[in-house]
Amino acid sequence: MRERSEGAGNQVLIGVVGYGYWGSKHVRVLAGLPDVDVVVVEADPGRLAEARRAHGAISTTTSLDAVLPDLDAVVVATPPSSHAALALRVIAAGKGVLVEKPLATSVADAEAMVALAAERGVCLMAGHTFEYNPAVWKLKELVTSGELGRILYIDTARLDLGRYQNDCNVIWDLAPHDISIVSYLLDELPDTTSVWARRHVGLRHSDVAYVQMTFARNEVDAYVHVSWLDPCKVRRVTVVGERKMAVYNDLSDNERVRVYDIGVDALDSDDVHAMPVSYRNGDIVSPYVQFAEPLLVQNTHFVECLRSGLPPATPGERGLDIVRVLAATDAAARIRTEVALETLGPAS
Ligand SMILES: NC(=O)c1ccc[n+]([C@@H]2O[C@H](COP(=O)([O-])OP(=O)(O)OC[C@H]3O[C@@H](n4cnc5c(N)ncnc54)[C@H](O)[C@@H]3O)[C@@H](O)[C@H]2O)c1
Repeated sequence: MRERSEGAGNQVLIGVVGYGYWGSKHVRVLAGLPDVDVVVVEADPGRLAEARRAHGAISTTTSLDAVLPDLDAVVVATPPSSHAALALRVIAAGKGVLVEKPLATSVADAEAMVALAAERGVCLMAGHTFEYNPAVWKLKELVTSGELGRILYIDTARLDLGRYQNDCNVIWDLAPHDISIVSYLLDELPDTTSVWARRHVGLRHSDVAYVQMTFARNEVDAYVHVSWLDPCKVRRVTVVGERKMAVYNDLSDNERVRVYDIGVDALDSDDVHAMPVSYRNGDIVSPYVQFAEPLLVQNTHFVECLRSGLPPATPGERGLDIVRVLAATDAAARIRTEVALETLGPAS
């Protein structure tokens, strides 16, 4: 294993478990941070060889247990069903851990992770990348400043010819992003959810889903469309306000956020032949959003939390909140009717 730099009190040694599609990005980002050393922990020797090809002298191992005592912290970037067991081992060893979304695949597991982290006094952070995304911060600024007026509804679409997952459905794979974005924008968790989800290919999990959520305090509905089976790649959040509307398009290079000064006003008239609404049309403005790679922002924050002992912006509790919503979507899809989150009660 790579030695820590001598005398560098700030030096942090982080193990990244899982060098797949997303774990490889964690390794790139962490390896570029000052005073951070990285050990790649990957079960597949072929992937480990790829890590060494990409990062030269980087330390690699197939066994977390072999390196855990030497590590300061761990990033868990393995498939979702393995998150809880891995993270619990890391927390039990007294090390900080950043767990990719979703935090766990059941409420009981997520609760156990949060409880053990509190008991051991270690940092448990949920990898909700979009809450570290400057475009999402801009969108929140537009919502909270009142520029859009009262929010009428939020619509999101995360579609692609996507990477079918073995251990979770399309909602647990993609919707954690949208649930975290919408609840972050509204500063509220949903009260109820209803779901339409279908499997079109393969035998395991639904690959297309529409999730509806109600946010009672804000009196807002949100509609989340996720798909692994769509010819067009779409990554879009639309916030429809009474005064203006905003669209965040994550695929745009230079106009990630657009604000549309348009709207529709109801016209009250007894005349059944009269127009029921009038339209307002104005400018479309793209506010400046300084680019910063969200994963870099997130992982820099994780390292700062490890060094300072301060709690992360997305602690385990935040990950647990999103897992609760995901569990409610399972219940809603099963019974095909709206589910109130509070009726699910504590995990058994
Ligand atoms: N935040 C984001 O924007 C974002 C984007 C993509 C994926 N993710 C999340 O990242 C995680 C990984 O997704 P992925 O697409 O990279 O998956 P992947 O299948 O491409 O990679 C997972 C890797 O983990 C390895 N692995 C599995 N169990 C292991 C273990 N016990 N020890 C060591 N290695 C192990 C596998 O061999 C594989 O190489 C998932 O939780 C996913 O939801 C997050």
